Amino acid sequence: MIPPSPDIVDYHEQTPEVKERFTQLKQRPVVLSVDNVTKDFPTRNGVVRALHDIDFEVYRREFMCVIGPSGCGKSTLIRILAGLEIQSEGEVLLDGNPVAGPGPDRGMVFQTYTLFPWLTVKQNVMFGPKMTGHMSAEIEADARQWIDMVGLSKFENSYPHQLSGGMKQRVAIARALANRPRILLMDEPFGALDAQTRAQMQAYLLEIWRNLDITILFITHDLDEAVYLADRILVLKANPGEIDEIIEVSVPRPRSMEQFISPEFIATKHHINQLIHPEQKGDGPVLHFPRLTEAGDDVE
Ligand SMILES: Nc1ncnc2c1ncn2[C@@H]1O[C@H](COP(=O)(O)OP(=O)(O)OP(=O)(O)O)[C@@H](O)[C@H]1O
Ligand SMILES: [Mg+2]
Repeated sequence: MIPPSPDIVDYHEQTPEVKERFTQLKQRPVVLSVDNVTKDFPTRNGVVRALHDIDFEVYRREFMCVIGPSGCGKSTLIRILAGLEIQSEGEVLLDGNPVAGPGPDRGMVFQTYTLFPWLTVKQNVMFGPKMTGHMSAEIEADARQWIDMVGLSKFENSYPHQLSGGMKQRVAIARALANRPRILLMDEPFGALDAQTRAQMQAYLLEIWRNLDITILFITHDLDEAVYLADRILVLKANPGEIDEIIEVSVPRPRSMEQFISPEFIATKHHINQLIHPEQKGDGPVLHFPRLTEAGDDVE
């Protein structure tokens, strides 16, 4: 929980440079357009409305994060964008074309490791392009380049079980990028990593994003992660999943970990925290514990 501070600046405030970046960003072509998407799941206990009237656009080379409480429909949204799930209403357009099923133009990276365990790192990365029927030598050279980019050249012939969690996710990113997608869809990709590896992976991802023509939609639970990575943050609320706000992150780029304590970083984080965990009215829940210690033996 972030304590409110009298020094907190307005999260809306942008320096002229940041304002100019957003003006330029919005002049870029729209890569992904989500138009009034609603998703209902029929269940035994009636219809569950997971998403309601979701409407937003992502611009070319934008880094957009999606954040929201558990069950607000983040994974459902990304699965619809990936073509793994069909929306009940509305439309998803990629470069102006309706999404109807999975395709190589969208790269996916999930939280759980999804590499093929029986294939080596190189074979995993080559898997997608091989399906397209390109020359094998060409694909191999290309795969080596992606593996090198994620810093795993020494491990190209290793199997997934021989890699750490962070390394596996780097392979997953290389594998997704090897298909030359238009957009990378990432569902809490670093959620299972320890804090230090996670920080390294975030820096890696920013570096990759800076150097490639790639648009990223990144789901996270983590406020720091969202503010550190994103141009804009889509905040969802639950029951049903609706857009609460789309926030332009006023923290300048290039980003660094030192910015975590900058006033605009803290203000943005504080604002999102208020959206996601609005302060409870009253005294909050009262927990009833049986007394298991001696009377008077208090630690606080
Ligand atoms: N296949 C399904 N059938 C029925 N209900 C579903 C199905 N998939 C998701 N839901 C429901 O839709 C809602 C959104 O689920 P979703 O997994 O998208 O949430 P989420 O925001 O990704 O949550 P988390 O942060 O815990 O990953 C939940 O109420 C969930 O129970
Ligand atoms: Mg989820």
